[in-house]
Amino acid sequence: MGLLKGRVAVVTGAGSGIGRVAAVALAKEGAAVLATDIDEAGLKETADAISAEGGTVETLPQDVTDEAVWDTVMEVAETRLGLPSILVNNAGIAIGGAIPEFSLDDWKKQMSVNVDSVFLGTRAAIRKMHEAGGSIINISSVAGLRGAAGLSAYCASKGAVRLFTKAAAVECARAGWPIRVNSVHPGIIDTPIWQKSITRLGEGMPASPTMPQGANAMDADTLGAQASPMGRPGRPEEVADLIVFLASDKSSYINGQEHVVDGAMTAGG
Ligand SMILES: NC(=O)c1ccc[n+]([C@@H]2O[C@H](COP(=O)([O-])OP(=O)(O)OC[C@H]3O[C@@H](n4cnc5c(N)ncnc54)[C@H](O)[C@@H]3O)[C@@H](O)[C@H]2O)c1
Repeated sequence: MGLLKGRVAVVTGAGSGIGRVAAVALAKEGAAVLATDIDEAGLKETADAISAEGGTVETLPQDVTDEAVWDTVMEVAETRLGLPSILVNNAGIAIGGAIPEFSLDDWKKQMSVNVDSVFLGTRAAIRKMHEAGGSIINISSVAGLRGAAGLSAYCASKGAVRLFTKAAAVECARAGWPIRVNSVHPGIIDTPIWQKSITRLGEGMPASPTMPQGANAMDADTLGAQASPMGRPGRPEEVADLIVFLASDKSSYINGQEHVVDGAMTAGG
C-alpha cells in the first residue's frame, strides 16, 4: 500500500478486464486514477470498485482512436486530479480470421484501436510529462512476440506496440526526458476479450500452440489450459501487479523492455 501515493494515472480501456483491474490496483497503491473507455457502463463499475475501497477516481468516455480527444485526456487528468505521471495504454481489441478472407477494413480497425491509440497516448503523455517525468506502460501481448494462426492482424498490431515502445523509451532517455516506456505481454488472461473475438478465431485454421484446433468453440479457461504449461489462464490481477511495479519507482532502471506474464506459454514446448 502507498507505493504510488501522490501519483496520477491515466488508464485506457478501464471499463473491463485487465484495464479495470489495473485501475483498481493502481488506486489501491495510492494513485489517483483517470479511467477512460468507450464503455460508459463499464467505467461506472470500475469507478464504483475503486471508490468502494476508498480510492480516488475520475472517469472520462474516450475513444482511443480519436486524436482530438487525446489532447483533452491529459488536460482533464491534470485539472481534476493533478499532473499525470503514469499512462497505461491498455484499450485493445482482437479481430481474428484467416488471411485470405481478412478484409482491409478489419485490418485498419485492428491497427487503429491497438496501434494508433498507443502512439497518440504516448505522444500526449510525453508532451505532458517531459519535465516532471513519468512511466508509460503499453499493453502488448505474447502475440507481439510470436505469430499465431488466425490472429495475423492482432499479432502485427501487438508487434508494432512492442517496437514503438522501445523507440519511445530510447527517444525519451536520449532527450533527457525522465519518462520510462515499457511493454507488457500477457498470455491468455481470463477477460471478456476472448468471448468478444472467439467466434472468429480458429475458423479454417491449422492448430498451433497459441491457437489450438477448434479455438472458436473455447473459452479462456480451455484455451489457457491448452496453451499454458501451467494449465490455466492468467488472472487480470497477475497482469495488474506487473503494471503497478512498472508504474512505480521500484522499476526506476527498467526501461524500453518487454515484460512477459504468460505462465511459461512462450518459454518452451
Ligand atoms: N485477455 C487476454 O488474454 C490478453 C492477452 C494479451 C493481451 N491482452 C491485451 O490486454 C488489453 C486489455 O484486454 P482485455 O483482455 O482486458 O479485454 P477487454 O475486452 O476485457 O477490455 C478491453 C477494453 O477496451 C475497451 N476498448 C475497445 N476499443 C476501444 C476504443 N476504441 N476506445 C476506448 N476503449 C476501447 C473496451 O470497451 C474494453 O473495456 C488489450 O490491449 C488486449 O489486447 C489481453
